Amino acid sequence: MVKVGVVGFGTIGERIADGIAKQKDMELVGVVDVAPSLPVRALVESGRGYPIYCSLPERIPTMEQAGIPITGTLDDLLEQVDMVCDATSPGIGMRNKEIYKKHGVPATFQGGEKHEISPILFSSTANYDAAKDIDYIKLVSCNTTGIVRTVVAMDDAFGVEKSVATIVRRAADPSEIHKGPIDAAIPSKVPAHQATDLMRVLPHVDAMGFVITVPTTHGHVIAMHVTLKSEITTENALEVFRQGRRICTFRMEDGFLSNTHIFDYLRDLGVPRADMYEVGIWKETVLARGRDLYWIHNIPQEAIVIPETIDAIRARMGMQADKWDAVDATDRYLGIAK
Ligand SMILES: NC(=O)c1ccc[n+]([C@@H]2O[C@H](COP(=O)([O-])OP(=O)(O)OC[C@H]3O[C@@H](n4cnc5c(N)ncnc54)[C@H](O)[C@@H]3O)[C@@H](O)[C@H]2O)c1
Repeated sequence: MVKVGVVGFGTIGERIADGIAKQKDMELVGVVDVAPSLPVRALVESGRGYPIYCSLPERIPTMEQAGIPITGTLDDLLEQVDMVCDATSPGIGMRNKEIYKKHGVPATFQGGEKHEISPILFSSTANYDAAKDIDYIKLVSCNTTGIVRTVVAMDDAFGVEKSVATIVRRAADPSEIHKGPIDAAIPSKVPAHQATDLMRVLPHVDAMGFVITVPTTHGHVIAMHVTLKSEITTENALEVFRQGRRICTFRMEDGFLSNTHIFDYLRDLGVPRADMYEVGIWKETVLARGRDLYWIHNIPQEAIVIPETIDAIRARMGMQADKWDAVDATDRYLGIAK
């Protein structure tokens, strides 16, 4: 059993913690935060029972007064774990890295941290081996995770020369009311970081990316255009996506007309938080023309990075030598169908 701690119990941290708690070859030793936030309160009220630690000893009384039982400090947790997953607010991870180093504990960091935090950018289906000897591993962002999965599937099958992503980016998470109300579509400078990040994990692909931020909270939607090394048909492409890992397809003709329809469907299924780990491709948007392939996919931004974060633990701790064995193990425990 690899012992893991999660630092930062917000949108991403609570999902990483739940994901690790499901891995039968990992033990979630505890979670860390600094405030009695709603996710921390919900953790206590739900009875999930993860031991809770506090990074800042001076905040312990505030948390305890709010009814949060505190097991110890971040230093206490670090004495008991093999590895931590940092999911704190952007910038905090860089400071925490020094604390992890002091305890000799390797860590993963999320997309909001600066690239300097790690010598690599990690996305398991592209560069699993790169994390084997690295103590501080930065995951790619949610959008790049989805782009990597789909581009790797096409690259493995046909070879990808060039990739262009046009990202329609949600402006905020549902609870980030400080970012709104808003009424605008905001273009970003080119190339988008998702394109330069893709070239770091798949250096042979010539990538370009655009971002337009729009006033929604239900995830991002990306229009993709890749140029392959050989000609394919739309049916070939759909078959590759059907076989691809952590990729699923939705049909507009079945009623999946928007990302909100997917979200509602997951709620109707009773999926916790309506979280989706897969990148979802709308079948009717897949079109091949010679060597050019087009599609549109949905990025469930809050959950999509969880499988790759767990894979990073597998790579760094030497749990599986082969990336697909690691992906199999993570997905089996998360309940992601092949
Ligand atoms: N929200 C998303 O959709 C999303 C998607 C992919 C990646 N990310 C990245 O994940 C990281 C976390 O984002 P988030 O949306 O979960 O943020 P969040 O604000 O929801 O959660 C961050 C948590 O860290 C806690 N925290 C702050 N300082 C701390 C400290 N010193 N010790 C312990 N906990 C501390 C905060 O109290 C908060 O609960 C960021 O790098 C972000 O860019 C976010």
